[in-house]
Amino acid sequence: MSYRNSHVKKGKDYDDFIKNQPFDAYMASVEAELLTKIITTNYKESVPRYLDFASGTGRIIELLEKYAKKSISIDISKEMQEQAKKKCKVTEFICADITQENISIEPVDLITAFRFFGNAENNLRMSVLKLLNTYLKENGMLVINNHRNPLAIKNILHRITGGNRDLDLSYFKLRSLLEQCGFKIIKTYAIGAWILRDKYAQSLQPDSKLTNRLESAFRSGKFSILSPDMIIVAKKI
Ligand SMILES: C[S@@+](CC[C@H](N)C(=O)[O-])C[C@H]1O[C@@H](n2cnc3c(N)ncnc32)[C@H](O)[C@@H]1O
Repeated sequence: MSYRNSHVKKGKDYDDFIKNQPFDAYMASVEAELLTKIITTNYKESVPRYLDFASGTGRIIELLEKYAKKSISIDISKEMQEQAKKKCKVTEFICADITQENISIEPVDLITAFRFFGNAENNLRMSVLKLLNTYLKENGMLVINNHRNPLAIKNILHRITGGNRDLDLSYFKLRSLLEQCGFKIIKTYAIGAWILRDKYAQSLQPDSKLTNRLESAFRSGKFSILSPDMIIVAKKI
């Protein structure tokens, strides 16, 4: 089981990479806005117990720990967690590979896992999803993203013009994995579905009126099939 991380930056380089790549920074800012909305609408009071799996440098848990009574980060990399510790105020950190170590945590109400599944190989995706399912309370919520969709128009055009980006996790494949691992998708949000070319993605004007209008017009879940990033909200069944 492996994680294709040769291209994934470590520690502070990871944060700098996301900040300095216009399209990655754009996806991160839309994810932050949507996640806040998802959590505050689904949990009127705070989330009793929250786990961020593969939390890396804390990009997601830094944003969400304030909405939880108890927040826990799991990541295999000490170097990534060192960065996260600088940002998080109340989160408990567990440095471990959940597929190799038996980690006992009390069941949680909410799990997030961002920028993990797209980079992981299929057997790792499957074993992580099955384990995450066991960490969730009945009816608990899983919120994940997929920023490596081979069917995104931008990625299809990249391929037919000679690009060799190695992507395999379509919306359909992810939905089937989730179902096999005991989850049911309840909502999907498309991010950047209107961005058709890499060239345009790299020169985005995130706060322009046009960008905001296009982003909201193409946000509906049905555009996830073709979007370069998506957020999926699923329930444990
Ligand atoms: C691309 S980073 C994503 C970090 C963060 N979730 C985000 O969205 O910015 C992927 C993270 O997965 C972690 N990871 C990879 N395999 C893992 C495993 N088996 N168990 C726990 N964490 C793992 C890596 O150490 C890395 O920090």
